[in-house]
Amino acid sequence: MIETDFIRSVRWENNRVVLLDQQKLPLKTEYIHLDDVKGVWESIHSLKVRGAPAIGIAAAFGLALWASKFAGQSIEDFRTGLRIQRDYLASSRPTAVNLFWAIDRVVAAAFHAKIVEEAKQTVLAEALAIQTEDEAVCRKIGEYGLSLLQQGDTVLTHCNAGGIATARYGTALAPIYLSKEQGIELSVYATETRPVLQGARLTAWELGQIGVDVTLITDNMAAHVLKNKNISAVIVGTDRIAANGDVANKIGTLGLAVLAKAFNIPFYVASPLSTIDLTISSGEEIPIEERTEDEVTHWNGERVAAEGVNIYNPAFDVTPHEYITGIITEKGIITGDLQEGLQKVKTI
Ligand code: MRU
Repeated sequence: MIETDFIRSVRWENNRVVLLDQQKLPLKTEYIHLDDVKGVWESIHSLKVRGAPAIGIAAAFGLALWASKFAGQSIEDFRTGLRIQRDYLASSRPTAVNLFWAIDRVVAAAFHAKIVEEAKQTVLAEALAIQTEDEAVCRKIGEYGLSLLQQGDTVLTHCNAGGIATARYGTALAPIYLSKEQGIELSVYATETRPVLQGARLTAWELGQIGVDVTLITDNMAAHVLKNKNISAVIVGTDRIAANGDVANKIGTLGLAVLAKAFNIPFYVASPLSTIDLTISSGEEIPIEERTEDEVTHWNGERVAAEGVNIYNPAFDVTPHEYITGIITEKGIITGDLQEGLQKVKTI
């Protein structure tokens, strides 16, 4: 197995949440030690921890932090408090459904407990289970994803859906991790992913750490690369998939999907089942986070845009299902009628 411990971006250690500060990468590898829910909320909101599954895991540990400090004896008070913390953490970011999925799962598990001590233990156990399961899920996604690729293939990816965005291995990058283990040589083009540069700062760094042949391009080079560089597939992660197969992912994903279709290149979305939201019928209903203007107006802390210019900064876009060749899940690859396939995998 290749060494992947460096990508463990969320940890529970000595009753504290330890996060790899993804805002400092790749220049500094720094860890933040948190002992209150507010710190977890702020870390999610400010992208110190980011990527749909990692956000969910961090928030679940946030609830565990609160539970570990609860000093009362009333199970009713515990339940009420846990719900309040759940709502608070849910307000940190709106698009990635894994956040809500994870904290709701923790709350539901704790509600079966009859006494406070049992509830406290259940909250932590559930958060740890979410993390452990995510690692296994990502590995499975990697196996299915790798079955689509061959020695010498080149993949284009967007944003960062790698190990640091999950418990381990990532989703879109999981096939790449597995290819390294199996001695299959693949190359990757990573788009820099304006405005926050997850591709440049995170994906290029992460793949470099495991010795993958990765080439960084700016976002506006994607059409040229897809047309000329013999790309075998585009593989991206996702923050939420609606029941009809529409996919929300990092802003810029939609453009890549349209380009992939134009150049007849398969466009795959790697997604754990926890990212599939069957409660919404189409991508129209997915809330799209809008972030602050300075992400667009400033470069490395320096203003580059004219003062007073109007700014629009959506962090995600929605790719309509008809642009998607397949969805790679831990239960297999869904192709064809995505709506039917999603229903099926969610009920297995
Ligand atoms: O704003 P971010 O960096 O949290 O956005 C992350 C993405 O869009 C990822 O592609 C997605 O969460 C999948 S991570 C496995």
